[in-house]
Parts: sequence; C-alpha cells; structure tokens
Amino acid sequence: MEPREPAPRTPGITGSTFPLIAIDGPSGVGKSTTARRVAERLGWQYLDTGAMYRAAALALHRTGTSLEDRSALERLLAGLELSQEGGRMFLRGEDVSEAIRSQEITRLVTPVSADARVRELLVDQQRHIGSRGRWVVDGRDIGTVVFPQACCKIFLTASPAARARRRFLELQAKGQMPDLEAVLADLQRRDQADSTRAVAPLRKAEDAEELDSSDLSLDQVVERIVARHLAHS
Ligand code: DC
Repeated sequence: MEPREPAPRTPGITGSTFPLIAIDGPSGVGKSTTARRVAERLGWQYLDTGAMYRAAALALHRTGTSLEDRSALERLLAGLELSQEGGRMFLRGEDVSEAIRSQEITRLVTPVSADARVRELLVDQQRHIGSRGRWVVDGRDIGTVVFPQACCKIFLTASPAARARRRFLELQAKGQMPDLEAVLADLQRRDQADSTRAVAPLRKAEDAEELDSSDLSLDQVVERIVARHLAHS
C-alpha cells in the first residue's frame, strides 16, 4: 500500500485541541477590535493583554514607582489587582479604561512591558484566566509564550501606512487633531521597541497564520478567522 500523504496543514490551525484563539501583531493593526468581534461570534470571552500592561504602567505612574527600584516594584506588583469585565479594564476595582489610553501611558508602557518581572506576573495571570479555554486573547506573545498550545493562532499585520491611517481616523473621530506623520513615527517607535526587546519580543509563532489586513475590512478579517476556526473545530 502507498504510504499516506500527510494532510496539508491549514495555516493558523495548530493541531492542538485547546480552545483558544491567539491574535498577535504590531500596534495599531486592529487586534483588539478583531479579537472582541471574533469572541462575540463564537460566544467566547475576550482578553486584552495590552490593557493589562497599560494598567500596570498606570499603577507605576500613579505611585511614582520606578522600574529601577526593584523592591518598590516587587511591592507594587504584589498588590496589583487587575480585572476585565465587559471590555472594561479595572485597577483595584476602579474603571481605568480611558486613563490607560492616554498618550502618557502609551509612552510609559513600552519600558514597563519590556520588564521581565512585570511580564512574569502578567503572563501568570493571563494563563490563569484562560486556563479553561474558550477565550480569544490578543497581544504580542500569546501564540509564542503565553498560550503556545492554542488551537488557532493568527499573526495580524498591516503596512505601517495603513495602520497609521486607521489610528489617525480613530483619533479624529474622538475629536482630536492628530498629525499623520507623528502617528506613523509613534507606531514605528513601538514596533521597533516591541520586536527588539530581550523578553518575549513580538514575533510570529511558526504555526501562526500571517494575515495582512492592509486591504481588508474589519468584517472580512473577523469572517476569515471565524471561518477558519469553525472549519477545524
Ligand atoms: O496592544 P497595546 O498597544 O494596548 O499594548 C500596550 C503595550 O503592551 C505595548 O507596548 C505592547 C505591550 N504588550 C506586550 O508587550 N505583550 C502583550 N501580550 C500585549 C501588549
């Protein structure tokens, strides 16, 4: 008998049965909106890990804790109470969803999210939250570090120009007067920092599907991820 050909592997479908969709990718690519919509479609829960790093940065900022002061950092992390509910981020019970999106926190979160001790704590919390599965989780290291056993992994990309344009329109819709060049420069700074840091840098997992959303609508991206997942579950 002829040896059987191995079944062709579908990109993004890892062969694992752990029901969790990992969506990673650079800043401003629409991961959070996509992940929330995919979760709604499947009746799963959604975890925004970027919001957790932002809330940690806010806590450091408010208490004036420096990353260099290791014992103060340890104390702060030991008492860090984070939770997410209905798409809102809470820090010790306070809704900080708006506060974590300020420009100041967006700047401060880069070094905070590169700190090994901060990552250790937040990755533990993320694993605990998602441990029973049926979660859609978005971030930078979900498919590589946090949930390498996810059944479905997407690495969402878009050209820097497309991401900057989307972010620009988003800020305009919020009544701000952004500068397109400055928005692009900020995205590129964050891409560079996220992909070159020593701990858990942004990179595509080998078994993730790279999905370039530059010329796709949000609906098309969501549809593609949901269809891919359902075809294999
Ligand atoms: O996705 P975001 O812009 O809200 O993420 C905020 C910051 O946290 C950003 O600097 C990248 C970092 N981050 C990370 O290092 N690992 C994750 N899993 C999620 C976000």
